[in-house]
Amino acid sequence: MLGNFTYCNPTKLHFGENSLEMLKDELSHYGKNILLTYGGGSIKKTGLYDEIVKILKDCKKNITELPGVMPNPTVEKLYEGAKLARESEADLILAVGGGSVCDYSKAVSVSAYCNEDPWEKYYLKMEDVDNKIIPVGCVLTMVGTGSEMNGGAVITNHKAKLKIGHVFGENVYPKFAILNPKLTYTLPKYQMVAGFFDIMNHITEQYFSGTDDSTSDYLMEGLMKSLIHSSEIAVNDPENYEARSNIMWIATWALNTFVAMGKSTDWMVHMIGQSVGAYTDATHGMTLAAVALPYYRYILPYGTEKFKRFAINVWNVNPEGKNDEQIALEGLSAMESWMKKLGLVMNITDLGATPDMIDGIADGTFLLDGGYKQLTRDEVVEILKQCL
Ligand code: NZQ
Ligand code: ZN
Repeated sequence: MLGNFTYCNPTKLHFGENSLEMLKDELSHYGKNILLTYGGGSIKKTGLYDEIVKILKDCKKNITELPGVMPNPTVEKLYEGAKLARESEADLILAVGGGSVCDYSKAVSVSAYCNEDPWEKYYLKMEDVDNKIIPVGCVLTMVGTGSEMNGGAVITNHKAKLKIGHVFGENVYPKFAILNPKLTYTLPKYQMVAGFFDIMNHITEQYFSGTDDSTSDYLMEGLMKSLIHSSEIAVNDPENYEARSNIMWIATWALNTFVAMGKSTDWMVHMIGQSVGAYTDATHGMTLAAVALPYYRYILPYGTEKFKRFAINVWNVNPEGKNDEQIALEGLSAMESWMKKLGLVMNITDLGATPDMIDGIADGTFLLDGGYKQLTRDEVVEILKQCL
């Protein structure tokens, strides 16, 4: 490993089918006022809402509810939550849901006492937090984003046609996260498999960077193999606890900064996917699935060695009698077959994007330089055309 780094992850995890029992203990560390954030109602249908409210009441907490956090939370919703968090003098924000609810809760936690417009400060100017932060805890119901153990908080501004993630520091990470794989059983298949690809792509975004011999790459290969194995089981048998629990654990490790240590990291699939999301409001993991292969096929010549290693070590491609490019391409084809088997959306047209949006999507794509090739805006346009 050639990179220099500092590693710290302050989130405490409680994992397993009995992990909700730990919520009571966690709550004892915080004051009385709890801001309970959740999404569009899945937690009411599953009965989780009632369980959580009972625990909060048993702990004599005052509950302020903040429901209706939408997938791809919006800036307007952020303003609403920041006001409510301040007015209710929240001592803890308890996020119950998927990445959107967790991300949103972190964004609210840094915005409640912010004297400026939080969208401008954190998302346009990318400034650090310099005001009071309300602690966040989460009970996860959908896996994929890694939001339960990182500082990411992605917010969408539909008027500006921008979807931007701010990766906050350790002071914003959830203080604790409760991970019960059984809570993910009720996810519709579409969301479940979108989450599977989100995980895979978080790993490849970090894997496809750097040329040094790095322990992080070996860790990522193990995570990817476990994901492929368990996802193929879960897609046919969603209530297979072993598979769902492995996937939940992989998702957390794929994006809690651990495997990024020593890596420059790419993140261009996310940058393009997020811009597609700003135009279509499509499910995050599907936006990635729809753009990943054209992007990887485009940059393959600049990182052939690594794509070859990916093919052999992750997808078991037999290298005999083939040149490096053929091996590398076979790896991507193997990933494509896996994606199709899961039932992922493979193009942006199916997500609602149209050719006239391509220029705007390219304009909204941040061009990063950590991968094997720094793209120009025109190259993003070319790739997007391949994604239609
Ligand atoms: O709103 P409800 O009714 O709860 O329904 C949700 C939502 O419609 C439903 N759902 C969640 N758990 C369920 C369930 N339905 C039934 N049973 C359950 N157990 O699933 C739908 C999607 O949920 P959402 O939270 O939007 O999905 P996800 O976890 O994929 O989060 C997506 C957001 O996270 C951001 C994305 O950009 C997007 O805004 N990301 C955050 C990252 C981070 N913090 O580091 C990184 C990621 O790359 C990503 O960008
Ligand atoms: Zn993602």
